[in-house]
Amino acid sequence: MKSIAILTSGGDAPGMNAAIRAATRSALDQGMAVFGVRQGYQGLIEDQIRQLNARDVGGIIHMGGTFLGSARSKEFREESGRSKALRNLARHGIDGLVVIGGNGSQTGAYMLSKLGFPVVGVASTIDNDLFGTNVTIGSDTAVNVTLEAIDHLRTTGSSHNRAFLVETMGRDCGYLAMMAGLAGGAEVISTPEFEVPASEIADRLRAAYERGKTHAIVVIAEGVKDNSERILSFFEKDKRMVGFELRATVLGHVVRGAPPTAFDRFLATRLGVGAIAALSKGQSGVLVGYESGDVIATPLAEVAGRTKPIDTDLVELARILAK
Ligand code: F6P
Repeated sequence: MKSIAILTSGGDAPGMNAAIRAATRSALDQGMAVFGVRQGYQGLIEDQIRQLNARDVGGIIHMGGTFLGSARSKEFREESGRSKALRNLARHGIDGLVVIGGNGSQTGAYMLSKLGFPVVGVASTIDNDLFGTNVTIGSDTAVNVTLEAIDHLRTTGSSHNRAFLVETMGRDCGYLAMMAGLAGGAEVISTPEFEVPASEIADRLRAAYERGKTHAIVVIAEGVKDNSERILSFFEKDKRMVGFELRATVLGHVVRGAPPTAFDRFLATRLGVGAIAALSKGQSGVLVGYESGDVIATPLAEVAGRTKPIDTDLVELARILAK
């Protein structure tokens, strides 16, 4: 392999820059030419492709987001879009592609690899719901940002005898809510997989108040039906007495834009280098992930369209620890 391109796609994740840097420098070290694609698959279609050198990826390891930009491309889902992308790759003499992203992005990578183009995916999404890896780039940072918010809200909640609804990201997967909720000592954790209805949240808050708690934290993943807005309006109509005064904080994209933690930088570095190692030994059509301290490769055919569920034992653990 003589020439590779790198793109970031889908929702950005802290650590993507570190992965681009690692892949670029490790490919340069192996004598390959490296190209950066702007705005994900859309940039591939629009030929937003330019060569990168070692300096171009300097000073970015500590930055959240992605300096290449990212997008969710509708056009790439069409066959005509993918053909344009392949033509542009050929025009630049590129013979391998690294796709840094989550579920949708890896499904796109699989489609390209089915057309015969060598692609390696790098597992990156704050949601950590990607099959083929224990952990994804960005999820540790997003958990820690959510946790910091919980800690702050607990402090003010305690001063005012309040319960806080804290809504974090995760449309289809409750990993962030579950991890931050457990680490933050939440009274209730509600996720799309294990949703706690508003009426049960009311019962649990009332019970916590009666046990003498001075504050309570309810962590909610954005994908639940009873999100914080609906819970607040439920309590308004229901006039149910939960003891505490209630307030809600929706964290939204705040959890996605932070500087990467040491763990995410390290993970991104290992996976970026791992992607180039795979391509240079002729391996493609795989997702590079991380399991038990090792970089592993899983066929994109197994990854595409599949999600990794959260650990059901954690749900019971959260209930026990909320005493
Ligand atoms: O996939 C990552 C993620 O941040 C999800 O947690 C969230 O539901 C979604 O992206 C938000 O997407 P957008 O940035 O397009 O609003």
